[in-house]
Amino acid sequence: MKDIAALMRPNIRRMKPYSSARHEFEGEAELFLDANENPFNNGLNRYPDPLQHKLKERISEIKRVRAEQIFLGNGSDEAIDLLFRIFCEPGIDNIISLPPTYGMYQVAADIADVKIREVPLNSEFQPDLDALCKAWDANTKLLFFCSPNNPTGNSLNADIMEAVLKKFHGIVVVDEAYIDFSTQPSFIRLIDKHDNLVVLQTLSKAWGLAAIRLGMAFSNSSMIQLFNKVKAPYNINLLTQETALKALEDTEKTANFISVLLQERTKLEKQLSDFSFVQKVYPSDANFILMKVAEPNTLYKFLLQNKIVVRNRSTVPGCEGCLRITVGTPEENIFLLETLVKYKEN
Ligand SMILES: Cc1ncc(COP(=O)(O)O)c(C=O)c1O
Repeated sequence: MKDIAALMRPNIRRMKPYSSARHEFEGEAELFLDANENPFNNGLNRYPDPLQHKLKERISEIKRVRAEQIFLGNGSDEAIDLLFRIFCEPGIDNIISLPPTYGMYQVAADIADVKIREVPLNSEFQPDLDALCKAWDANTKLLFFCSPNNPTGNSLNADIMEAVLKKFHGIVVVDEAYIDFSTQPSFIRLIDKHDNLVVLQTLSKAWGLAAIRLGMAFSNSSMIQLFNKVKAPYNINLLTQETALKALEDTEKTANFISVLLQERTKLEKQLSDFSFVQKVYPSDANFILMKVAEPNTLYKFLLQNKIVVRNRSTVPGCEGCLRITVGTPEENIFLLETLVKYKEN
């Protein structure tokens, strides 16, 4: 058992969360005159369900967890931000990240005035267990694994992640934004086993709903109560709740997206590696491909001139020479490849 309460910031432990009258009232009310809303019904005049019960019910069926093990945020970025607010004392505490990885851990740490200890992934983009164990101290509150990892595309070694879950006194966050494209099972299966595990997923990738901003955190119910304590009262708007619920009814559509994108990824991996200027295509467990090229900046600019935007990661330590390319629709990928043929002929 890990003492999660002891990790919390004292002010968060002490504070009383915001509570609305409607939240406190149990039963069927006749009149809602408590929240200063406009009473004329247009479908949007009332505040939305602050705890998104219906949506969590559906997510709990799909993910095979209990509804009280789910927190929903304005993108998984909100969950990342709340973790800092709950656990990290500005100017005192620190967190661990494993670069090259998703940039928001650093940004969230900078906003919270929390130091970041970087323990780089090795040359195979895998965590170094010994280095990780040496990196934390009593003030290390969070450790971020991103699997499949952005921008490298690979899944991290699950045995190492589980070893860290056992050894580390703080919170282990496993960011699984790309898990739907992966051959690896989700760490959600371990939330009943490890008190200090938080798994992040999102509707922004495989579900095709980046615009509605819906991220999910899965953990034990005590941890989820901490998220609920500090979140803004109505953090998921009604339009998002309704759109997400509708999309989550049609799991076949998402399965189809995933199947097409995985076929396209396999094709692209092969086609990209056939270009003479491509030095390496890294194996991907996500919906993007990292590739190392001879002249990344020249290629990046050429693609921009041809109205194709990819991510230039060539200045990121560990990703020297690399561009990251999202797998597009079959038509988009053909356009990309035709443009790369032009680049070669240039
Ligand atoms: C690893 C990773 N985590 C989280 C996110 C953000 O997801 P969301 O749209 O749910 O905020 C991204 C977005 O690119 C990502 O790459």
